[in-house]
This record gives sequence, C-alpha cells and structure tokens, in this order.
Amino acid sequence: MNQRWVNKVKGKLSAGSQFNNFQIFKSSNFQIKKMAKLNFGGVEENVVTREEFPLSKAQEVLKNETVAVIGYGVQGPGQALNQRDNGINVIVGQRKNSKTWDKAVKDGFVPGETLFEIEEALQRGTIICYLLSDAAQIELWPTVKKHLTPGKALYFSHGFGITFNGQTGIIPPKDVDVFLVAPKGSGTSLRRMFLQGRGLNSSYAIFQDATGKAKERVVALGIAVGSGYLFETDFKKEVYSDLTGERGTLMGAIQGIFAAQYQVLRDNGHTPSEAFNETVEELTQSLMPLVAENGMDWMYANCSTTAQRGALDWWKKFRDATAPVFKELYESVASGKESQRSIDSNSKPDYREKLEVELKELRDSELWQAGKTVRSLRPENQK
Ligand SMILES: NC(=O)c1ccc[n+]([C@@H]2O[C@H](COP(=O)([O-])OP(=O)(O)OC[C@H]3O[C@@H](n4cnc5c(N)ncnc54)[C@H](OP(=O)(O)O)[C@@H]3O)[C@@H](O)[C@H]2O)c1
Repeated sequence: MNQRWVNKVKGKLSAGSQFNNFQIFKSSNFQIKKMAKLNFGGVEENVVTREEFPLSKAQEVLKNETVAVIGYGVQGPGQALNQRDNGINVIVGQRKNSKTWDKAVKDGFVPGETLFEIEEALQRGTIICYLLSDAAQIELWPTVKKHLTPGKALYFSHGFGITFNGQTGIIPPKDVDVFLVAPKGSGTSLRRMFLQGRGLNSSYAIFQDATGKAKERVVALGIAVGSGYLFETDFKKEVYSDLTGERGTLMGAIQGIFAAQYQVLRDNGHTPSEAFNETVEELTQSLMPLVAENGMDWMYANCSTTAQRGALDWWKKFRDATAPVFKELYESVASGKESQRSIDSNSKPDYREKLEVELKELRDSELWQAGKTVRSLRPENQK
C-alpha cells in the first residue's frame, strides 16, 4: 500500500472519518485499482476519491465514448461544461428555438458539431445523460428508447424515472447499461465549485450492467462531471433520500422553521430587521459556513456560553417535535405519493404559471422582503 497516498487521503478526511483498507475491483478490460473503504462515524462505506480514480483514468475509460448530455437546464450545463473542460468528448442535445438552445450556444457548444436537436444527439451518443426535467423524461422516453441500441449506456442524475417506473413508464432495454451519478447540489454549484477547484460530492449507482463495463463507465463519468468524492447507493435509496432531503432540511423544513421563528419574533414586537437577522442572516452568513468547515460541535464550542447552553438545551426538543413530520414525509415518499404528485403537477401545461404564483407568495412575504433589504445592505453589495 502506498503510504504517501494513504496519508494524502487521511489528510483530506474530516475529523470523524478514518482510513481503513482498500478493495480491488476488476472489470472486463479495466481495473478500478483501489476502492477506499472509509469509516463514517463508525459505519464503513466504499467510496471513490479523485486520488484513487484520477481524471486521467476517467479520460482513458471514456476516450472512445460520445457523451450526449440531453437537456441544458440546470444540471445539463454544469455536467456538460465540466466534462468538456475535463477533455471528454461531449455533445449536447436540446430542442431548438428556445432560450436554452441559445444558452448552450453562448457557452460554446457549436450547432451541428457539439450541439444538436435531441433526437440527433441521442443517435450520436454512446452514453446518454438523461438530464431533462423529470416530467419531460417521461414525455420523451419513447424517443430515447428508440436510440438505446445494444452496448450504449443510459445515465441519470436521479433515481426517480427508474424507481417509480410504474408511474413513469421508463423501462430500459436489457442490453444497455443503466446507472446514475447524482451530484448532491445544484448544477450551478457543480460548475461554480469546479471553476474554484472544488467539487460537489455525488452518489453513484448501477441499475443494469449489460456490458460488464458499467462500473468503470459510471465512476469515470462521476469523476469527469467534477464530483468531490463518490459514494455508493442504489436507485431507490437515491430517490427516497433525495425527495426526503429537499422536502425536509434542505428546503421545505428550513423555510417552515424560518417562517415560524420570524413570526413569533414579529408577534412579540421585534422589528423585521431584528427578526430577519436572528432567523436567517446570522445563520447563512456567519454560522453555517463555520458548520461547513468544522461541524456543529465546533460551532457550539465557538459561540458564547449563553448561546451554547441554550442550543444544547433546546436542540433535542426541536428534534422530537419534527421527527414525526419527517417520518410522515419518508412514508409519503416511499409509498409513491410524492412522486405521483410531482408527476401530476409538473406535467400540467400551466405548471410554470402556477409555480410563479406560489413563488410570488414567498417572495412577497414580509420575511423575504426584509431579506431583500438586508442583502442590499451587505457591505459587498453597496457601491
Ligand atoms: N436541478 C439540479 O441542480 C439537480 C440536482 C441533482 C439532480 N438533478 C436531476 O437532474 C435531472 C435534470 O434536472 P434539471 O433540474 O437540470 O432539469 P431542468 O432544468 O428542469 O431541465 C430542463 C431541460 O429539460 C428540457 N425540457 C423540458 N421539457 C421538455 C420537453 N417537453 N421536451 C424537450 N425538452 C424539455 C428543457 O428545455 P427547454 O428549456 O427548451 O424547455 C431543458 O433543457 C433531473 O433528473 C433532476 O432530478 C437536478
């Protein structure tokens, strides 16, 4: 074992993680040398790091492939541009006469060379990265299926279409590889962090290995799109955790908690400025960056003793109060209720107008109007 490499990986791990051992993975014509088995808070997991699977190896695995990124919405640009900058042969498939097509042109994709109508890209691609919105994936599926000839690979960034295939109808032919790489964040962050020399972590999963090369293909793609490290999952776990997370702490729960605390402060006579700063601004500007760097215990240890005492006394009450809601949420995801609701509402022709009404309600709320003013007063936003 190369001790220098081990030390390098060790150095990159967070305090709670410990390096344990390696596993050797072999596939038909390529060896994925060493999979790191790491300890995450006492639980061992197989992960792939950039050290063990460098970009040069991803380029080697993908050198004869044409990666067709279908859709240029949010994930499309992040993944396509990162792969292009990483020396992968990538083309984009996007419907013409749309702002999105123009965006791809602006980003340097050349019509007829690296930018095509969806069907032509599907025909040219050997790996099809299916990055349309989940609703559009259902609509376009018959066209995609037609071009999935033996040996090609179908790549997703979400387990939705396959896991809920009773609702989506997405059932791939048996003679193609089917896998996913799901970056844990927005396509915008994927690109932004790539340009900063950083990387979002991604999960990966294999649903079908028809060629015997699915593992090396998916890992190579995970590295090529600019992932930090890759962790293993399966399609079902990916979609269950993803739907829970975005409805929960990442977006739904956080907005709910913001709104509740802000309202209590306002009802008790605090100004919008005070309520917003104590609810959102301090969290996003001061505390979360510290949590991101060093964890929650470190942040607690580095705030006032008064704050520390209060936070330690109250966090379990919030956990116990919200746990039943999270349980209900997970059950709603696992029963297929959430996916059905998403398919039903997102495939309606007036989806965007209805969405705008709901977003306007949030935007126009006193909380987020106060936030707008607070943001404008940040020194970096003042001329
Ligand atoms: N958003 C994220 O950052 C994120 C993060 C992780 C995983 N994912 C997954 O990545 C995949 C792509 O998500 P996304 O958020 O990037 O999707 P998105 O932005 O909603 O996708 C929009 C793309 O789909 C095209 N499209 C929509 N309806 C169409 C139709 N009827 N026919 C043809 N094209 C159509 C759009 O073209 P037009 O502009 O011409 O309408 C555009 O290229 C999804 O599986 C998602 O779950 C997304």
